[in-house]
Amino acid sequence: MGAATNIVWHEASVDRGARAQQRGHRSAILWFTGLSGSGKSSLANAVNAVLFERGLATYVLDGDNVRHGLCKDLGFSDADREENIRRIGEVAKLFLDAGVITLTAFVSPFQADRAQARALVAEGDFIEIYCAADLAVCEGRDPKGLYAKARAGVIKDFTGISSPYEQPEAPELRVDTGSQTLQESVAEVVDYLVRHGYITNAS
Ligand code: ADX
Repeated sequence: MGAATNIVWHEASVDRGARAQQRGHRSAILWFTGLSGSGKSSLANAVNAVLFERGLATYVLDGDNVRHGLCKDLGFSDADREENIRRIGEVAKLFLDAGVITLTAFVSPFQADRAQARALVAEGDFIEIYCAADLAVCEGRDPKGLYAKARAGVIKDFTGISSPYEQPEAPELRVDTGSQTLQESVAEVVDYLVRHGYITNAS
């Protein structure tokens, strides 16, 4: 018999704390919200790259991997957006428990839906990052040509045009993605994580 004979493997023995200890950093949800074209996805992915380079466990949840899979049955009615955000909140919670710094990049236009996602986890686990960019700036960028289609009435319920965007009232961080460079925005997010002890400067 080996030395491990009497080791009892409790189901909960690999908990979040154990994962944090092994990995050397805690997990958190970085919830990016903002208009289409505000730069959420670019920012989340750029922050993700920086954290990954530092050896941290990270993952980005965004439309590419969620609306084409888990949420492919959902459209853009208020009810569908609510369900979209509910599912993303639940998935982010699982990733949080798995010890992963999870970055979500969804318009998430409704305050109540964001509050519901926040309420799933403990205080400090949810960092709401408002990607602030004026509608005119987003519409000017129009990377996917969707604003033009929304103005023409081809796409209905389009956020900012024919469906509301409720600005976060008290986000942990507001980033001026409408006016500053991607590098500046990335630095602000990373700086926030360091100042609040989520990561260290050395990591
Ligand atoms: S959310 O409102 O449910 O959070 P989500 O972030 O998943 O939205 O998807 C928004 C993306 O889908 C936009 O960036 C845009 O590319 C595309 N899109 C297609 N139709 C719409 C619409 N009616 N309103 C907003 N975005 C739309």
